[in-house]
Amino acid sequence: MQAHRIKNLFSAIARYYDFLNSLLSLKRDKMWRRETVKASDVGPTSKVLDVCTGTGELALAYADKIAADGFVIGSDFCFEMLVIGNRKVERRHAGTPASFLTADTLILPFLDDTFDVVSVGFGIRNVSDLEMGIREMARVAARGGRVAILEFTQPVNPLFRSLYYFYFTKILPFVGNLISGSKDDAYGYLPRSVMKFPNCDALKAVMEQCGLTDVRFYRKTFGIVAIHVGKKPING
Ligand SMILES: C[S@@+](CC[C@H](N)C(=O)[O-])C[C@H]1O[C@@H](n2cnc3c(N)ncnc32)[C@H](O)[C@@H]1O
Repeated sequence: MQAHRIKNLFSAIARYYDFLNSLLSLKRDKMWRRETVKASDVGPTSKVLDVCTGTGELALAYADKIAADGFVIGSDFCFEMLVIGNRKVERRHAGTPASFLTADTLILPFLDDTFDVVSVGFGIRNVSDLEMGIREMARVAARGGRVAILEFTQPVNPLFRSLYYFYFTKILPFVGNLISGSKDDAYGYLPRSVMKFPNCDALKAVMEQCGLTDVRFYRKTFGIVAIHVGKKPING
């Protein structure tokens, strides 16, 4: 889907986004984000950039592990999603090391080799050029730093997959579009985009093409989602 349509789609559902994530994933989404943080090896002084941050859920999961010496920046090109993330920071205790900024993941406004971790949760699938998006994430990651991708994937077990696809392609779009009132079929777009997205091995290969090494992936919840983590080489 073209970038301006993606932006419009998310700005229209921003108010309902967190509630529907929690409802439609049966509250698994927070656990997936915590596991992404764990897999990315962050420490109290880490500098983290979470791209396609939306309402900031993954950025704030990182912020929970980071002390005053480190920081988390969440970036997204959809202002309405970021407003909700910002509200969450304001409601938290003062000193939460997270802030948000409007930016396109394909042209990040940061110098090369800046962040210890560059992450994305359920966002890279929506970026109009996957390889360019990952290359840009890798560019701003520090040498020896990590790029972490949390994304929906296609379950491997055929029996589970057919049961899950019934839910994912029929029930989820109906409930999601009904509650959010999406006129762009946002919750029908979700399963369609997941079906077109590379499987775990193919995504690993794209990350390697983008210069990342030691790429590993971890399937979660019967393979509904996967966490990929790759390292930016120290030399090269
Ligand atoms: C499904 S939401 C994910 C939000 C959040 N990361 C999470 O874990 O729930 C996808 C987000 O990607 C953003 N997005 C898509 N393409 C983008 C791009 N090229 N640059 C910046 N943000 C983008 C959308 O605006 C949307 O907020």
